[in-house]
Amino acid sequence: MSGLFVTLEGPEGAGKSTNREYLAERLRERGQEILLTREPGGTPLAERIRELLLTPSEEPMAADTELLLMFAARAQHLAQVIRPALARGAIVLCDRFTDATYAYQGGGRGLDEGRIAELERFVQGELRPDLTLVFDLPVEVGLARAAARGRLDRFEQEGRAFFDAVRQAYLRRAAAAPGRYRLLDAARPLSEVQRALDALLPELLEHRRG
Ligand code: TMP
Repeated sequence: MSGLFVTLEGPEGAGKSTNREYLAERLRERGQEILLTREPGGTPLAERIRELLLTPSEEPMAADTELLLMFAARAQHLAQVIRPALARGAIVLCDRFTDATYAYQGGGRGLDEGRIAELERFVQGELRPDLTLVFDLPVEVGLARAAARGRLDRFEQEGRAFFDAVRQAYLRRAAAAPGRYRLLDAARPLSEVQRALDALLPELLEHRRG
């Protein structure tokens, strides 16, 4: 593979989508092929699984069901979109990936990390993101931004303790592997976050797979 796999992580309301667009523009200016995608989703079938995952329903979804649906959507997304894009040399900018599973299903739902790691190996083989940008934000700021957007999805309906655990899981992962993660303070004004992204560009371009 000769592309570059970059993932963006963090809570709802951290500005991932806006910053993903910004980064894509800066990279396109430098002549790179950019593929923007997201999880859960990224293909028509995976987007249908996303609907199942995000739509609140009367029947409670078991945590294991949630975990397996995340990886089912991911398997489809990898096969149809991510692996082909990397194979042709594109830079893939993906809004959330398996770090979100460790943060939400592991941290938030309390599922065993070893189980998640097994599924990660099963679905992804050796494939891991080359670089993961973690947009960190205090929990109450993220919750307020999500609430201001209108109707809450199944995850956004969770409470403070859930999102505290999600944030801690992201911070732990970023601290454990500083080579792969870049932690960005998303509570700052957007212009400052984007300056931090500008500073990452040279490194990002150097990072391309050989
Ligand atoms: P978003 O893309 O609009 O942020 O919504 C996706 C939601 O799905 C978000 O609340 C995080 C959650 N999620 C997981 O719980 N596990 C995962 O592996 C992924 C990719 C997302």
